[in-house]
Amino acid sequence: MSERIAAIILAAGMGTRMKSALPKVLHPVAGKSMLEWVLDAVVDINAEPIVVVTSPAHKFVREVASKRAVVTVQDSPLGTGHAVLSTANELEDWCSCGGTVLVCFGDTPMISSHSLSNLIIARKKIDNPAVVVLGFEPEDPALYGRLLFAPDGTLERIIEVRDATPRVLSIKKCNGGAMAIDASVMFDMLRQINDKTNNFYLTDLVRIARLAGRYCDVVNCNPVETQGVDSRIGLARAENAMQVRLRALAMDGGVTMNAPDTVFLSHDTKLAQDVTVGPHVVFGLKVVVEQGAQIYAFSHLENAHVNVGASIGPYARLRSGTRIGASAHIGNFVEVKNAEIESSVKANHLSYIGDARVGSAANIGAGAITCNYDGINKQYTNIGAESFIGSNAVLIAPLMIGDGAVIGAGSAVTSNVNNDELLVVRGKSKTIPGWGKRLRKRHVINKKTKD
Ligand code: UD1
Ligand code: MG
Repeated sequence: MSERIAAIILAAGMGTRMKSALPKVLHPVAGKSMLEWVLDAVVDINAEPIVVVTSPAHKFVREVASKRAVVTVQDSPLGTGHAVLSTANELEDWCSCGGTVLVCFGDTPMISSHSLSNLIIARKKIDNPAVVVLGFEPEDPALYGRLLFAPDGTLERIIEVRDATPRVLSIKKCNGGAMAIDASVMFDMLRQINDKTNNFYLTDLVRIARLAGRYCDVVNCNPVETQGVDSRIGLARAENAMQVRLRALAMDGGVTMNAPDTVFLSHDTKLAQDVTVGPHVVFGLKVVVEQGAQIYAFSHLENAHVNVGASIGPYARLRSGTRIGASAHIGNFVEVKNAEIESSVKANHLSYIGDARVGSAANIGAGAITCNYDGINKQYTNIGAESFIGSNAVLIAPLMIGDGAVIGAGSAVTSNVNNDELLVVRGKSKTIPGWGKRLRKRHVINKKTKD
């Protein structure tokens, strides 16, 4: 059977419990919006077309969704069944040629393409089920619709909590939300949904399909996948679940983490084999760490590339636009921003390197900094290879320091330094023998006079 799969992502709910100016489905989980996670999952299983159902109030959701999908607006939020019906303009012709329509929720970022393809596989079974539902058994079934089975084990009904008797509420098997529907009958069935006081349940399709003599099926998934986000607490739970997944993927890929529960990854973090990540490391967006590099405890990285064998932290901060060369060392309380740090550089303690290049094997002493901002513009510092920047040097950009140059500790450098030159900027030192002793004596006399 040829693959005809369309996907609908429901995202027209108001998400009021999030108490946010940002529409719910645009809240990020591991740095990517919930909607994008679901879009990725349906793209993964080659669904085409993809239609996102949005609310008239959420222009921003339409902007995001329209980059990757067809967007439709559900005029008023009259329930999940009504939301799917509101794709008629976009999908009814497509459906008349058969296939499967996959319905997912925009607020379940953990849904996996694996479970979605299980739904599709079950839909294509020889007995041609009209609806296949993603079922799961949560620890607390709470507000989930309950799955009722016929004596032959096939799915008979989904009963929403609002309509459930105590006996139904005791059922553990729940509706996870996603379903695969026979496209050829979907719109006919949608038009038969009973109106429950301005709420059209998508879940009513099971009853309707059974009445038409069709059978319905269930495939099971891990409860974590169906976790919907309705509040900030739900968002934190989803973040936590996603982190567990991302850490496991990183470790499966050959990354060592001594305390994985304390490491935070972004959806696009790329950690190569034999990278070691210490406790309490945070990876913001766009970080690549190459083979064998070590990221020590309490480091924070974003939009940074760390080359083979480099060592970062503990307590280092790599900000946007940073490239760290092979075997370079960036130590504690060193901040690097928009800078190219070449191979084997050492900047081990208390430095700020911003808008700069540091040539290979240069040494940046403790406390040395680039002054890259003159109050109006950012200025560039170019530090030559194998140069030595003494402790507490202040490099006032724009500035060029030649290869092999040496800058004396404490120097405030305002003009270029040639290759291999020594530059020291420092007040002349002066010693006065016995001065300390005389000072203390004077203090004692003064004190006695006062007393
Ligand atoms: C739904 C299911 C329930 C299932 C649960 C799983 C129905 C009737 N019930 O309930 O069986 O156990 O999900 O999480 O389907 N939406 C719209 N337009 C609307 C209403 C909702 O687009 O008019 C979207 C929401 O944005 C959300 C999704 O549909 O993405 C689900 O809506 P929600 O209100 O969360 O459904 P539940 O009551 O949780
Ligand atoms: Mg919900």
